[in-house]
Amino acid sequence: MAKKEKLITGVDIGSHAIKVCQLQRSGDGFALLALGSAVVPPGYVEDGVLQEPDQIGEIIEALFKNLKIKGAKVGISISGYSVIVKKVHMDPMGEEELALHIMEEAEQYIPFDKDDVYMDFQDLKTAVNEDDRTDVMLVAAKKEVVDGYLDMLYKLKLKPVLVDVDGFALENIWEIAHKTKKNVALVDIGASKMNINIIADGASVLARDIVVGSSQLTEQIASVCDLEFDEAEKIKVGLIAAEDRQPEIEEIFHSTCTNWVFEIKKAIDLYVANNPNMPLEQLVLSGGGSKIEGLKEYLGRETGLEIIEFNPFGTMKVNEKKIDLKYLKATAPEMAIATGLAIRPAAF
Ligand SMILES: Nc1ncnc2c1ncn2[C@@H]1O[C@H](COP(=O)(O)OP(=O)(O)OP(=O)(O)O)[C@@H](O)[C@H]1O
Ligand SMILES: [Mg+2]
Repeated sequence: MAKKEKLITGVDIGSHAIKVCQLQRSGDGFALLALGSAVVPPGYVEDGVLQEPDQIGEIIEALFKNLKIKGAKVGISISGYSVIVKKVHMDPMGEEELALHIMEEAEQYIPFDKDDVYMDFQDLKTAVNEDDRTDVMLVAAKKEVVDGYLDMLYKLKLKPVLVDVDGFALENIWEIAHKTKKNVALVDIGASKMNINIIADGASVLARDIVVGSSQLTEQIASVCDLEFDEAEKIKVGLIAAEDRQPEIEEIFHSTCTNWVFEIKKAIDLYVANNPNMPLEQLVLSGGGSKIEGLKEYLGRETGLEIIEFNPFGTMKVNEKKIDLKYLKATAPEMAIATGLAIRPAAF
């Protein structure tokens, strides 16, 4: 029998939490081997940039030890100001010619000096007729930011074999976990940013990162109620009662969620205006920020869409002796990106 293909370990380094996921092939699907997360103190990761690489390294090392993860090959994903993802239309050309063209014309497409970025691209081969132009997905990421992550991982003796982008990792696991052909808006609400990715006809049609997230709520609660960040966070997630500050906190929730819904609707409206023949059917929520009480119902009312929770493990085998099902259910939405990284083979 052929040996089972090894997969990489997915490491999603968020501004609030580091999430680690390890999978194994199982039949034509996957089985969950290990899953865990650890909180990141505020300020260690900012706008997708590692500010405290040594401390982040220690957190990852402890997580790997706790989860008894074997195998050094890992995949990470990046996001924020230092990453540009852009779909460009151009005349179809061969792979080599395209690579040369993109290097020569890079500055036309990205707002950075081309010597300062790592570039990658994929021809989506959308040209059907002879005269059609094709869509090319272009990704450029600041070298100094990516190198910050890579150096941190090398120091831990880990081998980063994949640097993905949050939105792509989400899209990849969506297709596998939910096995549907529906046109959907994937919305990941993290601590410091929201990622919207609209998938129609099996491809990403509109993708954007918006700098709003759940830590906004914590900061506002801390400021209005004159509390430390940690205490405000506990009130936010319902671990401690707000008592007489409840009305102010409800007002903060209301105004922040209104702003989030406004941003989501803006993206959906733009999509609908440009794609009237491909109506959206569902909005799929992931990220810890999506767990705010009442958000699903509010979003449903405002968008008219069916709102569902992203479950990256929906079609996976889970060893109940090793993984607590309650924990799995509670953390599934914020594990989507780490799982999307963990489905990749550990080739070479
Ligand atoms: N039950 C809950 N109610 C409200 N907010 C929650 C809840 N659980 C977690 N959160 C919030 O979700 C955020 C963490 O989510 P997640 O792990 O997806 O963020 P992240 O990936 O670290 O952030 P980012 O991707 O923005 O860098 C935190 O701000 C946390 O307070
Ligand atoms: Mg995140």
